Amino acid sequence: RVRCARVLQLTLAIIKPDAVAHPLILEALHQKILENNFIIVRRKDLIWRRSDSERFYVEHKGRFFYQRLVEFMSSGPMRAYILAREDAITHWRELMGPTKVYRARYTSPRTIRAQYGLTDTRNTTHGSDSSESAEREIAFFFPEFSVQHWRDVEEPCFR
Ligand code: TYD
Ligand code: MG
Repeated sequence: RVRCARVLQLTLAIIKPDAVAHPLILEALHQKILENNFIIVRRKDLIWRRSDSERFYVEHKGRFFYQRLVEFMSSGPMRAYILAREDAITHWRELMGPTKVYRARYTSPRTIRAQYGLTDTRNTTHGSDSSESAEREIAFFFPEFSVQHWRDVEEPCFR
């Protein structure tokens, strides 16, 4: 059994269509992932159908922003990553900053959403908010990915 210097956690990150549309922002965000010592476990560029968007955000169905969120998320190419790191979920969400861009700019101007976000909906990135949502969201984007295989064979230092 391998002795682990650090314990890894997985999260699902998305670079949303507003950011993918701008090559320099896409590149800056990719660099940010690397600079923050995330392991890029998987990566996928894709375009959602409206039905994918509705399914992914079903927890928000009925909220005032649901229609525009669903519309926006299926409006163009996005990039999804499975990222691994110690405390990956919390760390990625800290890098993103608050959901609402005006709030991000006011309270945490160095975060991704403060720097690149356009509106509360077009807010540049997504990150899983718990290990349960990470599991669900990883399966949503990467149905072929087996966490168990990754843990046992590819990367044994995983929680
Ligand atoms: P939510 O899960 O609350 O935020 P987060 O992405 O930080 O986990 O909301 C999901 C997405 O819904 C959010 O990234 C953008 C959109 N949204 C709006 O457009 N307006 C809003 O007021 C909120 C709360 C979210
Ligand atoms: Mg959320």
